[in-house]
Amino acid sequence: MNTSGSALSGNIKFDLSVVWHESVDGIRITDSTGNIVAANPSFCKLLDKPEAEIINQPFHILYHPNIQAEIIRDYNDDFNNNKIKPQLERKAVLWNGRKVWFEFSNSIIKSSSNETLVLSIVRDITDKKENELALIKSEGQYRSLFNNTSDAMFVCYLNYGKTLSNFAEVNEKACQLLNYSMNELLQQNPLNVIFENKEVEILKFIDRLNSDRSTIFNSSLSVKNADKIPAEINSRMFDYNERPAVLFISRNIAERREFEEKIKQRTDQLRNLASKLQSIREEERKTISREIHDELGQMLTVLKIQISLLSNKISDNEVIQLKLKSVEKLIDNSIESVQKISSKLRPGLLDQLGLIPAIEWQAQDFMDKTGIDCECILHKEELFLDQEKSTALFRIFQESIINTARHANASKIIIRLSEVNNDLVLEIKDNGKGITLNQIGDPKSLGLLGMKERALILGGSVEIKSSMNNGTIVKAVIPLITNITINI
Ligand SMILES: Nc1ncnc2c1ncn2[C@@H]1O[C@H](COP(=O)(O)OP(=O)(O)OP(=O)(O)O)[C@@H](O)[C@H]1O
Ligand SMILES: [Mg+2]
Repeated sequence: MNTSGSALSGNIKFDLSVVWHESVDGIRITDSTGNIVAANPSFCKLLDKPEAEIINQPFHILYHPNIQAEIIRDYNDDFNNNKIKPQLERKAVLWNGRKVWFEFSNSIIKSSSNETLVLSIVRDITDKKENELALIKSEGQYRSLFNNTSDAMFVCYLNYGKTLSNFAEVNEKACQLLNYSMNELLQQNPLNVIFENKEVEILKFIDRLNSDRSTIFNSSLSVKNADKIPAEINSRMFDYNERPAVLFISRNIAERREFEEKIKQRTDQLRNLASKLQSIREEERKTISREIHDELGQMLTVLKIQISLLSNKISDNEVIQLKLKSVEKLIDNSIESVQKISSKLRPGLLDQLGLIPAIEWQAQDFMDKTGIDCECILHKEELFLDQEKSTALFRIFQESIINTARHANASKIIIRLSEVNNDLVLEIKDNGKGITLNQIGDPKSLGLLGMKERALILGGSVEIKSSMNNGTIVKAVIPLITNITINI
């Protein structure tokens, strides 16, 4: 077939054969039976066959044998019924097994002998189609994720970076949670559903979103004609339908709040119980210490006096005298032991003279026993502390210096007690090897935990600061006026 010729479009005359030869699209002309009467180079390339093997062949041989019958049947039907489709997309397998998507633009033309022919412009759209399909698939996956998640999700547009549109998307969970049908919820605005009608909150939210692109906040979601549901809302800016939009993912935190409240109550109960046990233990120590000191101490003193009287009466018997002297020595040692045990249980000084003398005495005793130098820089004015607070501070102090002796390898401890803004601050600083952060936070560090608990129950705190080889500072802060009520 002669494909040369010329055409006039507007005032421009051009050579049609150029179009035929240079077109990137395949062009094929078929007759009423489907025989190919002409094919341009791009068509041959598209079908991967030389022109000689195409011309005068039925066009369906260019397809895989499995689909040839179907293809020719469709063509014949369309041709015979004058229904050649002007535009058609077809998925096919070619003669060589290659899977393709072709787009056909068909027109009916007449040959010079007035034969009806079909001119088809064929374009390979396989890549475009595959991308579209991948997009549809990922859109489908996104949809299924959106609808099957256990969190309520809402999408709205961010108009001009300033206002929020009505919801553009909501998932099924959101509808269930808020008791709306999907259509009803899509007519709502985040202002009344998410922001409790607080316009100021929305403005603050949009500001945060514009600067950070995402933000998490707590709010109460409005259920249709009903109560509010406390929720934690995770929001994020993204492009949706090529417009800036906001995705809200909301998690119902009512259960979590209830759970947290229960944990808090339970922790308070345990803390109160521990405090109660602590004070019972202190009371018992105090009683035992007093009993040992008074009862046992007095009995030993009486015994010593009587031995001394007896020794006077039998002053002529030197052997017995010697025996009595050693008994007297034993009694002296026992009195000393009784005093030590008694003050170890609870220093009498703490109850009789208060915290400062007790710390000074304990520091001196510690220095004598361990050789670690203790410097006391203590509050000079009189302190009016109740027994609970002075006991807590004294025990924190004791645990700190015992820890220094046991673990720090230190040569000096500085103990400071001062009053700062209605707080009593006790600081014990050593020059030892320091504690690691792991040791400080270790739940098995019961000594450190005990110090913190003692302070906490009185509304105070214990902070432990340390750096490797640079010593340790234990800083306890106890408010002088406490508003703590202990419920057991
Ligand atoms: N002043 C310190 N210097 C260096 N390490 C310390 C100091 N105080 C505590 N530690 C480290 O922290 C750990 C935890 O101390 P904690 O007082 O809780 O336990 P403990 O003294 O080992 O045992 P206890 O329960 O008898 O007090 C210690 O085992 C020790 O390794
Ligand atoms: Mg300890």
